[in-house]
Amino acid sequence: MAGEPALEVVGIDKWFGANHANRGVSLRVERGTIHGIIGENGAGKSTIMNIVYGFLRPDAGEIRVGGRRVTITGPRDAMACGIGMVHQHFMLVDTFTVLENVLLGVEGGARLRPGLERARADLLRLEREFGLEVEPDRPVGDLPVGARQRVEILKALHRGAELLILDEPTGVLTPQEADHLFRVLRALTAAGRTVILITHKLREIMELTDAVTVMRAGRVVARRATAATGREELAELMVGRKVPLRVDKRPAAPGPVVLAVEGLRVTDGAGVERVRGVDLTVRAGEIVGIAGVSGNGQSELLEALAGMRPAAAGTVRLGGAPPARLDPRALRRRGVAHVPEDRQRVGLVTAFAARESAILGYHDDAAYNGRVLMDGRAVRAHCAGLMDAYDVRPRAPDLPTAGFSGGNQQKLVLAREIERNPDLLLVGQPTRGVDIGAIAFIHKRLLALRDAGKAILLVSAELEEILTLADRILVMVDGRIAGEVAPADADERRLGLMMAGAG
Ligand SMILES: Nc1ncnc2c1ncn2[C@@H]1O[C@H](COP(=O)(O)OP(=O)(O)OP(=O)(O)O)[C@@H](O)[C@H]1O
Ligand SMILES: [Mg+2]
Repeated sequence: MAGEPALEVVGIDKWFGANHANRGVSLRVERGTIHGIIGENGAGKSTIMNIVYGFLRPDAGEIRVGGRRVTITGPRDAMACGIGMVHQHFMLVDTFTVLENVLLGVEGGARLRPGLERARADLLRLEREFGLEVEPDRPVGDLPVGARQRVEILKALHRGAELLILDEPTGVLTPQEADHLFRVLRALTAAGRTVILITHKLREIMELTDAVTVMRAGRVVARRATAATGREELAELMVGRKVPLRVDKRPAAPGPVVLAVEGLRVTDGAGVERVRGVDLTVRAGEIVGIAGVSGNGQSELLEALAGMRPAAAGTVRLGGAPPARLDPRALRRRGVAHVPEDRQRVGLVTAFAARESAILGYHDDAAYNGRVLMDGRAVRAHCAGLMDAYDVRPRAPDLPTAGFSGGNQQKLVLAREIERNPDLLLVGQPTRGVDIGAIAFIHKRLLALRDAGKAILLVSAELEEILTLADRILVMVDGRIAGEVAPADADERRLGLMMAGAG
């Protein structure tokens, strides 16, 4: 029943110390619709939804579910109100099966047989009804990321979620997985459930949502019926000025080979070979993009090249020199910089202040070292400079890294690595979770680095990004390079098929 409210948020305020993250936020989501929430990094999107789900307590304001005021003091209250949330970082136990994960934390738990059988029946019913195929008895650790996400959704639905909140759900998905998710979301709303979707991808907003709420600097600045707006207007509403949705790119002028990889093999912690004999070169002044469904060895390839993971076989040469020792420090000293895919796990220490994160890995640089102790002033000034250049908000070198929104953490890592002016930049998912204004900015920076004659090896799950940036595209399937395409000959469909091993 369109028009009837599933959720109303009225005048919510939220402070983090002196940071006013939500300022009188009011929004309304109609039952049976998909409602988009967009806004720049740090606009307060995750904060307001974490309040609705009971992860955070608001300082003022109220929440109404189905027209009734409710008090939500934790996720349990939210669930009791029929609210479920799927997080960017999944909260599943790898060694448990799908069924056990769905049951985890529910009254009775996984130990009770009758409960288990009833849950299995419910799971199968939900899978059928909403197209959420996953095998109930598979351990979650074996599943690709798209399937894990479906487990999270099943878990919420099994607990009776009528309203499902998804915070940037497609950041880690392939285009095919994202299409699958969209079919699920449409099936949910067709059955009268309600979906809130936080995303930076305006294409998803246009394709999927019925209405969209725009946030900027803690406030709601606009609401539109999706049919009555477009990408340009939404971009402008988010940023407060016109944003170009395309970057200009000059043709590449490749120079000598900077990186030459031969026969590289990498084995993961469990002894499984993830990179199975990769040869590739990257020249000065070019961006080589690696496209692939996540989990096909791209991450391990990048990590091995950065010295974060041992290579089992093969050689890696930098600038024609004898094979390099793959050790992070030695590599850094030879002009290799690395933006890891998973900033939370390896790019940052979230408990550290931003100023420390801004020099992570470069602590032994003379510029930051006084005679005995680190020169605190130099470090802080360096961090403030990076924050200005990359528009990291808030400009607070002393704030713990965890206090920055996802996109702002990402900008901090990129600033640190790009501004070293490396000869070779290894970069994974550079714009994951980053807002459109910042994406254009980061793309420009990467192209500028290329135009300055530097070599860039780019791994990205965003085909649009690979097509925008790469001068050559390598497709990785099952630990091997399955083919090379020139961007001019590639479109998203063709690449998607190659990535699926069907090209
Ligand atoms: N735990 C926290 N402690 C301190 N400040 C925080 C905390 N969580 C969020 N903030 C601040 O609140 C503001 C809003 O952050 P929020 O995570 O809601 O942004 P967002 O719109 O989700 O951004 P993004 O698109 O980058 O995910 C930001 O300024 C952020 O730095
Ligand atoms: Mg967020």
